[in-house]
Amino acid sequence: MRRMVKERGGQGTVMATAGITIRDADSADAAAIAEIYNDAVAHTTAIWNERTVDTPNRAAWIADRRKAGFPVLVAVAAGQGEVVGYASYGDWRAFDGYRHTVEHSVYVRSNRRGAGIGRRLMEMLIVRARADGKHVMVAAIEAGNEVSIGLHRALGFEAVGHLREVGTKFGKWLDLAFLQLTLDSRPDPDGRSPV
Ligand SMILES: CC(C)(COP(=O)(O)OP(=O)(O)OC[C@H]1O[C@@H](n2cnc3c(N)ncnc32)[C@H](O)[C@@H]1OP(=O)(O)O)[C@@H](O)C(=O)NCCC(=O)NCCS
Repeated sequence: MRRMVKERGGQGTVMATAGITIRDADSADAAAIAEIYNDAVAHTTAIWNERTVDTPNRAAWIADRRKAGFPVLVAVAAGQGEVVGYASYGDWRAFDGYRHTVEHSVYVRSNRRGAGIGRRLMEMLIVRARADGKHVMVAAIEAGNEVSIGLHRALGFEAVGHLREVGTKFGKWLDLAFLQLTLDSRPDPDGRSPV
């Protein structure tokens, strides 16, 4: 049974489920994040990239995200403390007018998928996005990725767009599905949410 035992909002948030804790990443997590990322590069169309990364590359990525005020969360298994997944968001597009919108990514170690870890990471990322005053989260998902689309739909994301054959990997064209979650209903973009 999946059980959430603790949740707090804001920086330094820790969320524990049965056997899994979600916490902010630090540079010591870079090797595990690189491993998970590289496995997805080699075996999935979740990342439209065929180049792998090394640990310093991911350490720099974590540092850049944190410097920009964006979270990088890791899911850690009880016991040996293995990092079994991670999630993060950053700017959706680099123009001021998009400042309340973020695009995220979520990855779970291949042998730990289907056990609720992706959902827990996403739930915490959504808590963080709301706490950061973000208005919309955008998911750009390879249109054939039924698990990720199922996960996002289960979390309340709605399908808002579909681009045909905009990418390629493994010798095939790839379609891109856009899903979005609107996080609050504030009428004033730079104001506060109605309580
Ligand atoms: C996509 C991914 C992050 C999901 O994480 P996960 O831990 O495997 O997923 P979870 O076990 O938390 O499942 C969460 C929800 O996803 C949906 N889901 C899971 N498997 C599914 C499937 N085969 N078909 C449709 N929906 C599915 C369900 O709604 C599920 O919730 P439920 O179990 O309460 O019904 C993970 O599988 C992964 O890392 N895949 C490879 C990389 C990737 O695709 N990343 C996303 C890029 S956009």
